[in-house]
Amino acid sequence: MKDIQSIRQEMVTTCRKMNESGINQGTAGNLSIRIDNGFLITPSSLPYDDMQPDDIVEMGFDGTYLGRRPSSEWRFHRDILAQREDINVVLHCHSLYATTLACHHRTIPSFHYMTGVAGGNTIRCAGYATFGTQALSDNALTALEDRLACLLGQHGQISLGKDFAAALWLAIEVETLSRMYVQALTLGEPPILPDDEMERVIEQMRRMSYGQAPDPEGSNEVARPRNS
Ligand code: 13P
Repeated sequence: MKDIQSIRQEMVTTCRKMNESGINQGTAGNLSIRIDNGFLITPSSLPYDDMQPDDIVEMGFDGTYLGRRPSSEWRFHRDILAQREDINVVLHCHSLYATTLACHHRTIPSFHYMTGVAGGNTIRCAGYATFGTQALSDNALTALEDRLACLLGQHGQISLGKDFAAALWLAIEVETLSRMYVQALTLGEPPILPDDEMERVIEQMRRMSYGQAPDPEGSNEVARPRNS
């Protein structure tokens, strides 16, 4: 495992990338990563441009912390990391188009095959609950069942990943898909890819190790690098 100081630095870099990519602004958003015996999480209400590695807060799964006041959303970060052993990073932001859909409590359907990058044929929208509450965490966990991302009703989005790069990639994909869906809706409700096609899409993503799908095993259909 990497040393804690380099993880803190990587976290600051990822937070700044969240802002640069346009998915985050101001003091919205928060980020966490699993470490031995707990997790690191961004502090509450501190703009990422001002944040330094030592401002990152260390928390235990019992809710105790070392350092500054942790993100107000530490409950859903803790609960997701505790329940989901398949991921190590939780990213939350109020990206514009994902939040636009979330304001209407819209689930993203399989209007485009890339909906499959979140692991299923929809990206669900969690029911609204006050920010920072256990109720919001409970709603998020429900919406994230068998998924790597969800929208949060009248709030924003959550994207999960094995590492910072994967979670950031997915958050940007969710935002892009949301933008496409809002755009597509201007011409009326778009047609939806059927479940059996989405099963093929997800299987194809798995075989190709597309996005965050597991490495392919025993597949002879994927392109291979030449030895010489
Ligand atoms: P924090 O600054 O406490 O992380 O809150 C930002 C936020 O997005 C709350 O949902």
